[in-house]
Amino acid sequence: MRKKLIVGNWKMNGSLAANAELLAALKAGFDAAQADLALCAPAPYLLQLQAALQGSGIAWGAQDVSAHEGGAYTGEVSAAMLRDCGCRYVIVGHSERRQYHHESDDLVALKAQRALAAGLTPIVCVGETLPDREAGRTEFVVKRQLSAVIHAVGHCCSEIVVAYEPVWAIGTGLSASAAQAQAVHAVLRAQLRAATGQAERNRILYGGSMNAANAAELLRQPDVDGGLIGGASLKAASFLSIAAAGLAVLQTN
Ligand code: PGA
Repeated sequence: MRKKLIVGNWKMNGSLAANAELLAALKAGFDAAQADLALCAPAPYLLQLQAALQGSGIAWGAQDVSAHEGGAYTGEVSAAMLRDCGCRYVIVGHSERRQYHHESDDLVALKAQRALAAGLTPIVCVGETLPDREAGRTEFVVKRQLSAVIHAVGHCCSEIVVAYEPVWAIGTGLSASAAQAQAVHAVLRAQLRAATGQAERNRILYGGSMNAANAAELLRQPDVDGGLIGGASLKAASFLSIAAAGLAVLQTN
């Protein structure tokens, strides 16, 4: 089993003071043997994360990136700027961006491409809505979303992280069951394998109401390589227990 990657998605939460407290607690409790950890913060706080986390073993990243390289794009943040702030990761195609900012599969694919070109690892989010699932379209939707990225990034595909985040599970307290998650992860891994000839390097994270109580069962699934955690990443204790669950799962396999 791969070592798990546990990524916090802070969304639009935090302040300099609250972040400082959270970062100190995470650094104090982080055990690199448990899991790889990363935090994706709002852009204004990336330098704060860099200052606090450099040398700690905890990586950091952003929650979005421009599809443009640079220039007259007011309000946008480029992949090179994120690299400049020491980011290792950037989330692309989160369902909140697809929904509230109408990001298309093609735009998300371009963002993934820009991220890779700048030396960042994109965390590509895919996931179906509840009507999609109820209509039996889950596989079709996630494969369509991932296929746009595979097509755009070509052989660099082995460098991406994928996050399966069923839209109906995000922030609702209603996580996918371990079996539901595993079924979709297996589909995504097969798709990556068909595209690149291998998919063992790719980490496929689950996201959507993952917490300290359900993490172990989800992380025990053979194709669940970690988690993308929203609400439960805002408290050090719950985030660290998810990392600890990652280790427990490794040890029992
Ligand atoms: P949640 O969010 O853990 O609060 O459901 C996950 C995400 O949106 O990445």
